[in-house]
Amino acid sequence: MNYPMKTLTSSIIEDRHSSIYIPYQLLRYFIKKSNSKEETKKPTMFSPKFYSIFTVLIFLLLNPSHAQLTSTFYSNTCPSVSSIVRNVVQQALQNDPRITASLTRLHFHDCFVNGCDASLLLDQGGNITLSEKNAVPNNNSARGFDVVDKIKTSVENSCPSVVSCADILALAAEASVSLSGGPSWNVLLGRRDGLIANQSGANTSIPNPTESLANVTAKFAAVGLNTSDLVALSGAHTFGRGQCRFFNQRLFNFSGTGKPDPTLNSTYLATLQQNCPQNGSGNTLNNLDPSSPNNFDNNYFKNLLKNQGLLQTDQELFSTNGAATISIVNNFASNQTAFFEAFVQSMINMGNISPLIGSQGEIRSDCKKVNGS
Ligand code: HEM
Repeated sequence: MNYPMKTLTSSIIEDRHSSIYIPYQLLRYFIKKSNSKEETKKPTMFSPKFYSIFTVLIFLLLNPSHAQLTSTFYSNTCPSVSSIVRNVVQQALQNDPRITASLTRLHFHDCFVNGCDASLLLDQGGNITLSEKNAVPNNNSARGFDVVDKIKTSVENSCPSVVSCADILALAAEASVSLSGGPSWNVLLGRRDGLIANQSGANTSIPNPTESLANVTAKFAAVGLNTSDLVALSGAHTFGRGQCRFFNQRLFNFSGTGKPDPTLNSTYLATLQQNCPQNGSGNTLNNLDPSSPNNFDNNYFKNLLKNQGLLQTDQELFSTNGAATISIVNNFASNQTAFFEAFVQSMINMGNISPLIGSQGEIRSDCKKVNGS
């Protein structure tokens, strides 16, 4: 089921951030100001006033930090890009029920490191000496790169050299969420692809599942995301899998106590101990949301209320004494619509993290490599 979500908020964001909006307001301001002085002469083509207005305008139009993403970016150059992406994801989903979760996670791991610039997708080799793929949070964990390549090939067949890999990740995340029963929304587009990878950035900026709520909150704040974004986006753990090695510190000897994490439901604990025995394989998979493993819904939050969060960082959202996150979890657990609306807004916020725009970066022709390398 699709949840229609062409939100008012997203169109406001688009308008406010449009590359035309700010220069337009400034031009009006300058003209008004110059008209209000005693000499009521309007700036002519040759007056100094005209040149100052003109210079400011050109600066604003050329300075990419003032340009922003829009949902219509490919309207002329690749009008079907969303459905091309969606079709490939849908195809992949037929053989791999986990792929939608994996693709959603790729967009997150891309955006948190050097902004949403597809730096995550670069293979190690040549000038890329230390890839993000090989960073701790991604190595033997991030997956779906083969499907990203299939999407890219399909997009290139229809619109060569136009659509960035960073935008493909954003579109694939939206298609993944909506194909799994979650909300759909208009993805903001116009990102370009980076020329470098940042492995140490990936190691430090992406939260790890054993850190405190305060630390995770700080890592979100570092990229401009607030507590509501943190709770809403954590709701992506409503689908997909987690390997034992990411939470087995909770199962037998939590923080050196010789006992399991007290915030783990005892029945759930027993199941997890069986699936992830001491000295067993750290790679065994577990559903992040045992109640509906492949569906995008609000069961993740209902699980937290029952002490059934899989990762320590999941359960901390509800079990940290006095935390601001608790009331947000309660709200999302009781109101799926509120969760979906907040999730859409927070995905847009996350997708806006430091995009490369204008003439920055490039449009990669192969998502794994910088052009010409
Ligand atoms: C809040 C901090 C977060 C932490 C500590 C965290 C950590 C993790 C870990 C450890 C896994 C399991 C990986 C594995 O076993 O290989 C995982 C999976 C996943 N994460 Fe997160 N995550 C966080 C936030 C997010 C956000 C913001 C999103 C997306 C918006 C997200 C989406 C996912 C998805 C969909 C999966 C399942 C992937 C799959 O099955 O391939 N996570 N996360």
